[in-house]
Amino acid sequence: MSLLQLTGHLLFIVISISSTFASESTVPYPITCETRGVDLKDDVDVVLCPPDCTQGRVSVFGTGIYASISSVCGAAVHRGVLRSSGGPVKIHKQQGRKNYISSHAHGIQSQSLVRWSSSFTLTKPVTSPQELTSDGSATVLPPMEQPAAKKESKVKKPSVKKALTGGNRECQVDLAMVLDSSKNIGQRRFNLQKNFVSKLAAMMKVGSTGPHVGLVQASDLPKTEIFLTNYTQPKELLFAIKELSYMGGNSNTGKAIKHTAQTFFQQENGGRRGHPRVMLVLVDGWPSDDLEQAATYARESGINVFLVSVAKPVPEEVTMVQDKDFAKKAVCKDNSFFSHQITSWFSTTKHVKPLSQKLCSTNNMLCSKTCYNSVNIAFLIDGSSSVGDTNFRLMLDFMTGIVRSFEISDMGSRVGVVQFTYEQRTEIGLSDYTKKEDALNALQNIRYMSGGTATGAAITYTADMLFKNTGPGRNFMILVTDGQSYDEVIHPAEQARNQGITFYSVGVAWAPHEDLKAMASEPKDSHMFFSREFTGLSEFVEPIVKGICRDFTEKN
Ligand SMILES: *[C@@H]1O[C@H](CO)[C@@H](O)[C@H](O)[C@H]1NC(C)=O
Repeated sequence: MSLLQLTGHLLFIVISISSTFASESTVPYPITCETRGVDLKDDVDVVLCPPDCTQGRVSVFGTGIYASISSVCGAAVHRGVLRSSGGPVKIHKQQGRKNYISSHAHGIQSQSLVRWSSSFTLTKPVTSPQELTSDGSATVLPPMEQPAAKKESKVKKPSVKKALTGGNRECQVDLAMVLDSSKNIGQRRFNLQKNFVSKLAAMMKVGSTGPHVGLVQASDLPKTEIFLTNYTQPKELLFAIKELSYMGGNSNTGKAIKHTAQTFFQQENGGRRGHPRVMLVLVDGWPSDDLEQAATYARESGINVFLVSVAKPVPEEVTMVQDKDFAKKAVCKDNSFFSHQITSWFSTTKHVKPLSQKLCSTNNMLCSKTCYNSVNIAFLIDGSSSVGDTNFRLMLDFMTGIVRSFEISDMGSRVGVVQFTYEQRTEIGLSDYTKKEDALNALQNIRYMSGGTATGAAITYTADMLFKNTGPGRNFMILVTDGQSYDEVIHPAEQARNQGITFYSVGVAWAPHEDLKAMASEPKDSHMFFSREFTGLSEFVEPIVKGICRDFTEKN
């Protein structure tokens, strides 16, 4: 058949079908791997995907429900409704969501995303005439489909293997419950606490394809008693909780939070990739140690900390409380959503349901937005003749060191570089690279300009050109210079800061101390760095990354 004939044939089908089923277009509309949900106009559409829309070629945000900037075919592979050989899929447009969860499925790693204006879901297109008569509503697969389902796709009868519960599929969190096991609480209230968390776990419907729950005890030293994968059946879990023994000692809740954030959710300890991480911290009275640093750490690790404080300190006890605001500091966002007050261990029952709902409402868990996936970093590097080739390379290594810590992607962090002499050259624009390897590669290939030094003009250029289309509160400029500028720097830096850019100044060799200080954001001592030699730059990588995270956390 000639191509012409084939085209004619296809055309014929298009016309005949669309006249029969005018309401639903069933002829796949061919798209590419890069076509995103937003690129398609219709609310429901059957599209034809090419083969090999694989990892590396596609960006996918979410699991089950995908942000509309996702590749349609990539998301379809991730969802398991499209093989790598390509084929038709049906896309259903949906409202925007507050949170998209990342996961790894069918060879594709999807990314997380907070808040997007529209979404889509995917199904296999309706093919048999029988199914055509149905209302066409999407039979959306439950989220996080288990690979085992592939083999026995027809075995859907509920009679099979009813003994094991899959749990609540609507609630896919990995939850750490941190119990107060200090001497203050006492054996009796400790038992009431065990009762309470058992009821919570039961209400949440723990199961292999639902929430996974583990448990840590806070005492002098924290102790992980139950890992996420140990018990995925409610009966076993409740039994294990009942068997827990009381420890006594101080209530070092901060230590326990940190311990949990560092170890509990790791994959080797049973943490599931792409599942929201939640920590429920119970405190009887008040903690013996400081919670703020631990909570910051948890937040930076993308963990949603919920704090339940039971029984407030009585007036005589108030003086013993180190920090009356501990509840606020323990949670990643200081609002009533994340902290919960219960007056006594004898009145916890009515809190079981609302709390279990909160622990499952992943749409409200904004704490997975971290400094690593949410900032725009622009480097401003001195390309003047005094630097020299060798030191220029050290400067590139310095930038590479910093960029490695961040998640560079479409919706994640961004990096840009401007090199300056008397002139300015945009080496990397903030939206040039959406993959970390590509950005790092480009960084290493920046060519040394060599020339004079006009730092002030370069700051103004970067503030105007690089940051012109980005939102406030997340923008960082890192200047690296080795000498005195020929033009005025203080005013341009001030302008940039007023524009919402956090300014880090890094000086080497002859860079004047007063200028570095004047340019840097407050507090000055954590935003300015100086080294006599370029070899000293590498030591600034860690404090700068930490500084950016601190700045981000304070402003968001
Ligand atoms: C619980 O899980 C941990 C980590 O996966 C494992 O090392 C340990 O043996 C498990 N314990 C039980 C009782 O299953």
